[in-house]
Amino acid sequence: MKKDLVSIKDLSNKDVADIFELTAKLKKNKAKFTKVLSGKTLALVFQKPSNRTRVSFEVGMYQLGGNSFYLAPHEVSIGVRESVQDVAKTLSRYVDGIVLRTFEHKNILEMADASRVPVINGLSDFSHPCQGLADVYTIKEKFKKIKGVTLAYVGDGNNVCTSLVFAAARTGLHLNIASPCGYEPKKEVLDQAKKVGGSIRVTSDAALAVKGADVVYTDVWASMGKEDQAQERKKIFKPYQLNSSLLRSAKKGCLVMHCLPAHRGQEITDEVIDGKNSIVFDQAENRMHVQKAILIKLLNR
Ligand code: CP
Ligand code: NVA
Repeated sequence: MKKDLVSIKDLSNKDVADIFELTAKLKKNKAKFTKVLSGKTLALVFQKPSNRTRVSFEVGMYQLGGNSFYLAPHEVSIGVRESVQDVAKTLSRYVDGIVLRTFEHKNILEMADASRVPVINGLSDFSHPCQGLADVYTIKEKFKKIKGVTLAYVGDGNNVCTSLVFAAARTGLHLNIASPCGYEPKKEVLDQAKKVGGSIRVTSDAALAVKGADVVYTDVWASMGKEDQAQERKKIFKPYQLNSSLLRSAKKGCLVMHCLPAHRGQEITDEVIDGKNSIVFDQAENRMHVQKAILIKLLNR
């Protein structure tokens, strides 16, 4: 039966460990994997802009011997030109896998349901699993372990935060979250993660969340699709800016992460994102390596 990547919640601890093991092999010996997806094609159906997700999937697919193509928002127009089910059923006849970047998460679920080929969530308003997996892989690489490491996420309890919650729960990473009241991750997300053993603490106090953290992470205050709330959010999120003053509350030398794109001067300052402890571009690079592992696992079955 085909498998999708809709949410990290659907993966087992072993699935995540296996993805990380294969990622390490892919990074170490790129030449060994140049034909593993030969003859396979990946469709990228995107309803929102992208740099990292699009490019890392396209290059990753090429490096594995496969092909990919990109369908921009105006081309497929899910729900306008045709239904998500009809898009899925048609593409399934041509390609071996689909990456969907969309607004409503239900589009991912419906596409996965209707498609005969694996569907990968390339970001929805609910989650961003490829990001969460690459982030925890990056932490593993830096610390040579995951268990016992504390990550503090400061900001909006959004799609990226949700995937970090599930990725932390699957890997034993401690996660402290600081969000303004009303902007925390969904209760059901926290409950589901805790049920599988996740060590997650949520507060509205940014300094408290970063206290003793090994890594501090933030994301934009207004995600794609929420631009109309940007001005209001700037005021609400101001105390959650990742700046050198907030970092003084964290462990000395703590690492800094951001999924990118960054709104410099808003959720993160230049001195922090460009500082010596920032690993944001290692993190961005690992998107490709982790996704290559995901592609092999899903498309090569
Ligand atoms: N982090 C991330 O998904 O970046 P893009 O929106 O550029 O793909
Ligand atoms: N939370 C951000 C992540 C971008 C990669 C957004 O959805 O716009």
